[in-house]
Formats: sequence, C-alpha cells, structure tokens
Amino acid sequence: MAEQARLIDIYIMGRRCQVPEGLTILTALEYCGYRMIRGCGCRAGFCGACATIYNFKNDPQLRYDLACQKTVEPDMYLVQVPFFPAVKALYDLEKLEATGGKVLSLYPDLVKCFGCNTCTKTCPQELEVMWFVSDALRGDIREVADKSFDCLMCGLCAARCPQGLVPYNMALLCRRLYGRYLTPVSEHLEERITEIEAGKFDADIEELKKTAEKELRRKYTERDMEPALEQHWE
Ligand code: FES
Repeated sequence: MAEQARLIDIYIMGRRCQVPEGLTILTALEYCGYRMIRGCGCRAGFCGACATIYNFKNDPQLRYDLACQKTVEPDMYLVQVPFFPAVKALYDLEKLEATGGKVLSLYPDLVKCFGCNTCTKTCPQELEVMWFVSDALRGDIREVADKSFDCLMCGLCAARCPQGLVPYNMALLCRRLYGRYLTPVSEHLEERITEIEAGKFDADIEELKKTAEKELRRKYTERDMEPALEQHWE
C-alpha cells in the first residue's frame, strides 16, 4: 500500500487546517477548500500572481514567497493578498526617450532609496533589486533591463520597501525602453517573419497541430535553441 503523506497543521486566516506535507501553499489552500480565482496564475513560478505573506506560530516575523513554489511547513500562518497595489507610471512608449532622465521623471521616488537592500532580500527570484535601482539612478537602462530580466512582477519588492519605491514597475519601463529603442535590430528575425508570412512553414504548423502532446513535449525539449540572450547585448 502506498505510504500516506504525514498531515501537518497550518492556519489559513486563523483557521486550523490539516494538510499533507509537501503541498505548496497554493495547493494546500485548494486542499482546504479555497477556490483560487485571484492570486493564482501559471502555477509554475513564472507569472508572479501568487505572492503570499506568511509567518509562524510564536514567530510573528512576516515572510514572503510565491504560493505556487513555497512548500507548507508545520504551524504556518497564511494570509492571501490578492495583489499588491503599487504606483505605476502611465506613458506612451512610442513617445518616450530612452534616457535615464526620462525614467527618473516617471519614477522620481527612486532618489529616496537609502540602500537598505530589503528589496533584494525579499525577491523570490533572488534578483539584485537594489543594484538595479542604483543602475536606474545612474541612468543605465541596459543594466536595469539585464539585471531585472527574470522579474515576475510579483510586487513583493514594493510591498517591503520602507521608502515606498516600486522597483518592479520601474524595471519594466527600462526593459520596455531597452527592447523598443536600444536593442540591436535582429535581421534574421525580419527574414523569418517574411518567410512565415509567405507560408513557408504552413505545412509544418499543420503537422504540429495534429501531433500528440507527448511528442510535442519531446520536440520542444529537444529543439535547437538560439544562443543565450547575452549575445544580443554586446
Ligand atoms: S501562480 Fe504564477 S508564479 Fe505562482
């Protein structure tokens, strides 16, 4: 007979629940009957929708993580925060200049950073958040885009910043500026788009549509990949 997972106590909004050890916070919430409509997206650590606050019995210090990645622990107290409302500058990318001054004019609070590094310690992706904030202060858009490339936009850096900065929204602006104005143009991409529009791959796409999921996964895993992104940043 298969061995059953040990049950542990967790507390959801103060209610004690018993859940099998090894579940993620997200699956534990669902195991206890909560239907996750908000605060849940890809379930794979990519979309940043499931940022969660928790602490432990007799240990009130707040911790932060992604609910779809963090495994429940005994005596964990959970509170779901559906999203983190944070300042987000409005702009028309087509009308912006890719300059540090423009970034600072849209996010002037950046100058209030006093280097406590809480944002970096909070980031579930282990990004160097404080460093890309200082890159932004120096006007280095490329460095911000590079260091924040794996940002999930979960908002935890902003939730924890004692100065009320929003590093994740500022970094999104820098990645957009970099992509729109500073990235070298890819000639082979233009060629490939022309080929696609001319129907060169229509037959291949039709065949893929008929392929079973397992075979599709194999093809995806074994596909030829383009060189790493760094190459495009030279
Ligand atoms: S649900 Fe997408 S990161 Fe957790």
